[in-house]
Amino acid sequence: MHVTPLRQDMIPDVIKLMEQGAPYIRPRTASDYWLYARLFASSCPVALIDGEVAGAIMAFRSQEDPEEVYVQDVMTSPRHRRLGVAKTLLENVRQTAISWGCSRVYLTSEPENTGAQATWLSLGFQNVPGEMEVNGVSVCKDFKGPGKHRAVYQLLLP
Ligand SMILES: CC(C)(COP(=O)(O)OP(=O)(O)OC[C@H]1O[C@@H](n2cnc3c(N)ncnc32)[C@H](O)[C@@H]1OP(=O)(O)O)[C@@H](O)C(=O)NCCC(=O)NCCS
Repeated sequence: MHVTPLRQDMIPDVIKLMEQGAPYIRPRTASDYWLYARLFASSCPVALIDGEVAGAIMAFRSQEDPEEVYVQDVMTSPRHRRLGVAKTLLENVRQTAISWGCSRVYLTSEPENTGAQATWLSLGFQNVPGEMEVNGVSVCKDFKGPGKHRAVYQLLLP
C-alpha cells in the first residue's frame, strides 16, 4: 500500500471511490476535491494498492481551534476492506496532526454505522459523551444540523 497526499489527477478515481460509500458517504463535487488537493492535501491522504485508489480520507485543520483536525470522510473501497487501509490513512492523519502541534483528531458517524464505529474504537478513538444514547453509543444531538444527530469520536494526541 502506498499513501500519497490527494492530487488533482486522482479526482475522477476518488469520486468513483466515494460513490461506493452509500448510504454513509456521498461524493463531493470535482471542484471541491480540486480545492482540497490545492489547499488541504497534507490532511487528505489517498491509499493506492497496485496503482488503484483503495481508500481516502478528507480531513481539515480547524480555523476556530487550530489544535483540532476534523476528519470529514473516511472511505475504503468495498474490495479492499479489512486490509488496514482506514487504519493506515488515519495513522497518516494522526502523524500530520502531531506534526502541526494539534491536540485532537475527531470525526463523526451516524449512530447506525456500526462497522465504522467498530473501526474507530479499534484504532483508539473514544466516543465523546453526548446528550443521548443509541444502541449503546453516545450521540450528540443536532451535531450536523437540526435532526442530524451524530456519534462523535476523538483521538487525543500527546
Ligand atoms: C469504516 C471503513 C472506513 C473501515 O475501513 P477498512 O479499511 O476496512 O478498515 P481497516 O481494515 O483499517 O480496519 C481496522 C480495524 O477496524 C475494525 N473494523 C473495520 N471494519 C469493521 C467492520 N465492518 N466490523 C467490525 N470491525 C471493523 C477491525 O478491528 C479492523 O481490524 P481487523 O481487520 O484487523 O480486525 C469502511 O468499512 C468503509 O469505507 N465503510 C463505508 C464508508 C463509511 O461508513 N465510512 C465512515 C463514514 S463516517
